[in-house]
Amino acid sequence: MTDRPSTTKGRRPRTRLRRRVSGAIALALALGTVGVAYATVAAAATPKAQVASNAPSEDPVEIRKGRQLFEQGCITCHGRNLQGVQDRGPSLIGVGEAAVYFQVATGRMPVARQEAQVERKEPYYDEAETLQIAAYVQSVGGGAEIPTGNLRGSDENLAEGGELFRLNCASCHNFAGRGGALSAGKYAPPMDQANDLTIWTAMLTGPQNMPVFGDNQLTEEQKQAITNYVQTLKEQGDPGGAPIGRMGPVPEGLVAWVVGIGAIMLMILWIGAKS
Ligand code: HEC
Ligand code: HEC
Repeated sequence: MTDRPSTTKGRRPRTRLRRRVSGAIALALALGTVGVAYATVAAAATPKAQVASNAPSEDPVEIRKGRQLFEQGCITCHGRNLQGVQDRGPSLIGVGEAAVYFQVATGRMPVARQEAQVERKEPYYDEAETLQIAAYVQSVGGGAEIPTGNLRGSDENLAEGGELFRLNCASCHNFAGRGGALSAGKYAPPMDQANDLTIWTAMLTGPQNMPVFGDNQLTEEQKQAITNYVQTLKEQGDPGGAPIGRMGPVPEGLVAWVVGIGAIMLMILWIGAKS
C-alpha cells in the first residue's frame, strides 16, 4: 500500500512517460497505416492490362464503310482488288486486318511518298475508321486477325517477358526498347508510343524488316509476357521518383515509409531526451 502514490507530484512523471510512449505508438500506427495505404493506392493506380475491345467486325455495313474509305485513300497504291500497284504499293491480299491496324493506327498508312522507311505519324483515321478499313481488307483476303482479350497476361510473367524481349527483340529495338539503326537508312523504332495492340500487331505481321512472330515462334502467353514487359518498362521509365530496383511503386512507398518513419522516430527520441 505504501507504493501507492499519495501525491499528484509523485504520479506525474510516470503518467507523462506513459502518455509519451502511447503517443509514439499511436504515431507509429498512424504512419504505418498511411504507408500501407500509400503503397496500396500506388499499386492500384498502375494501369491494368489493356483489354482490347476492338473486336474485328464482320458487319456488312462496317465492311462497306471500310471499302469506301479504302477506295478514297488507298486504292491508288494498293489497287481496286487489293492486288497492289506496280511501283506504288504491295498487294494486301492475305496481310490481314492486323497489318491494316498496325499500319493505319500508327499513322504509317496512308503514306504520301516513298521513303527508305515509312514513318510513324499522327494517324489520319480515327479508331472506328481504322477498324472499318481493317474489316474490309480482312473480308477480301483474310489473314492475321486483330487480337482481343487480355493482351498482357498476369503480373507473374514480367521476368519471362524480359527474357523473351532480350532474346527476340532487343537486337533491333535495344535493350530498353529505345530503338536502333538498321542497314540502308532503316531503323527499328522506339517503343515509347506503341500501345498493347501495336505491339501485338507488329509481332503478328512483321512490318518491313521485322520478322513475323507467329504462334510457332512465340505462343500467345509469350506475346502477353513481352507486351507486359515492354509496357511496364515504359511506365516505370518516366514517372518521377528514383528507380528503386525498377520494381514499381510498392518499393517506392516502402522506402518513403522507412525513411520517413526513421526521421520521425529520431525526432521523437530527440524531443524525449530534451525534456
Ligand atoms: C502512296 C502510296 C500508298 C498509299 C496511298 C497507301 N499505301 Fe499502304 N503501302 C504502300 C507501300 C509503298 C507499302 C510498303 C511499305 C513498306 O513496307 O515499306 C505499303 C504497305 C502497306 C501495308 C503493309 C503490307 C504488309 O505486307 O504488311 C498495309 C497493311 C497498307 N499499306 C495499308 C494501306 C491502307 C489501309 C491505306 C489507305 C488508308 C494505304 N496503305 C495507303 C503505299 C501506299
Ligand atoms: C530484325 C529487326 C527487328 C526485330 C528482331 C524486331 N523488330 Fe520490331 N520493328 C523492326 C522494324 C524495322 C520496325 C519498323 C517497321 C516499319 O516502320 O514499318 C519495327 C517496328 C516495331 C513496332 C512498332 C513501333 C511503333 O510504335 O511504331 C513494335 C511495337 C515492334 N517492332 C515490336 C517488336 C517486338 C515486340 C519484337 C520482339 C518480339 C520485335 N519488334 C523484333 C525491326 C525489328
